[in-house]
Amino acid sequence: MALLHGDSSLGNPLQDHNVRVLLLGSGELGKEVAIEFARLGAWVCAADAYDHAPASYVANESRVLDMADSEALTALIANTRPTIIVPEIEAIATEVLAAAATGKITDRRITVAASSQAIEICMDRERLRTLAAVDLGLPTTRYRFAGNLTEMRAAVAEVGAPCVVKPVMSSSGHGQSVIRCGDEIVINDAWEIAQNERRAADEGDISRVIVEAFAPIDYEVTLLTVSSAAGVECCTPIGQRQENGDYRESWQPAVVPNDVLQEARRIATTCVEGLAQKARETGENCFGVFGVELFVLTDGSVLFNEVSPRPHDTGMVTMISQNLSEFALHARALLGVPLTSDCLELRSDHTTWASRPLVAHGYGAPAITGIADALSVPSADVRIFGKPTIAGKRRLAVALASGKSEAEARSRTQKIVNSLETNVS
Ligand SMILES: Nc1ncnc2c1ncn2[C@@H]1O[C@H](COP(=O)(O)OP(=O)(O)OP(=O)(O)O)[C@@H](O)[C@H]1O
Ligand SMILES: [Mg+2]
Repeated sequence: MALLHGDSSLGNPLQDHNVRVLLLGSGELGKEVAIEFARLGAWVCAADAYDHAPASYVANESRVLDMADSEALTALIANTRPTIIVPEIEAIATEVLAAAATGKITDRRITVAASSQAIEICMDRERLRTLAAVDLGLPTTRYRFAGNLTEMRAAVAEVGAPCVVKPVMSSSGHGQSVIRCGDEIVINDAWEIAQNERRAADEGDISRVIVEAFAPIDYEVTLLTVSSAAGVECCTPIGQRQENGDYRESWQPAVVPNDVLQEARRIATTCVEGLAQKARETGENCFGVFGVELFVLTDGSVLFNEVSPRPHDTGMVTMISQNLSEFALHARALLGVPLTSDCLELRSDHTTWASRPLVAHGYGAPAITGIADALSVPSADVRIFGKPTIAGKRRLAVALASGKSEAEARSRTQKIVNSLETNVS
């Protein structure tokens, strides 16, 4: 298959008989990406900070290292000589990815998914919000950035309460708090929470924060947006339920009014094209799946929240809903396949699909039983991630089902999760 656009000096990986994929982060999303690459004949190395990570069971090789350690990451890349690097997590020494992408680590330029620039921008709320709101003019919540407590007080006064404070480097709701009044103690607490729970060692002694107006959200959708040799295309919207920054359910298609859908697609496409434009400036293609998170407000307006430059956890529903899951799309985009809108289609019309993670609590090694019962629920499918240990709260599996309606699909995933039992010993 020919590349339709993009930098041809990067080559066409499908004609390269030696596709070598290095996964940086080997959790449940990485495991599915590894399977999709393996199906197409690629060699896969799964790296993570701990042994027996989910993707390590389906990869050719696995490595354990601190991926935020530049030296260790550089050595891993030099040693495994990948043609494609697929980051699954944010806590990675991003300057090493940039060096890999420009050919400074091995004797060739390595494709970084989606691009080393996109990884750097999307992990930093300040850079991402500036790109989205200022450079691309996308609608977002009102916001200010702050680098110390004095600046934060001023930011809260300008944005107004209620507002949300987030460390610029964090994910899964870590370090976030809602300020409901401009009280001094509340502001101090929010600053402390952001400092204590930000991603470790990202930027020295303090973390900058973003102060965002609290949005009157009616519902949230994710638009999986695919950038490939055929250009940028959006999947059908995914509805979701979030709890404390973690997704608890998703379903597809999310039924949204036509004007909301058009605006959501415009925002998602503009955002991904903006990231692709930045990548092209440094000679990268920026191919892959992006999870564009959008807020739909009570007045029907749509705001850009953030974007993951990789498959999104709410997109696990696509393992049952789409002909090509978000993981298959990610792998194919990176392999140079032109993904036109027909490649992003749902399996059939008049059906809804749902996903629901099994979240377990405890300390020790988890064992899941009840799988036969779970799979007896009509249309049920289950992915058991194979995580070796839990320390507190951890997502261990995901239930998948279809239904004639959203309610039916969601109640089936509830039945599947209820059938699964977790014992932690
Ligand atoms: N400004 C806001 N107003 C209202 N709710 C918000 C706001 N910002 C975030 N939220 C809620 O918190 C959730 C998590 O926020 P956000 O996506 O910014 O953080 P995150 O740490 O990157 O989370 P994740 O990694 O799970 O996507 C959102 O999905 C939304 O439900
Ligand atoms: Mg989010």
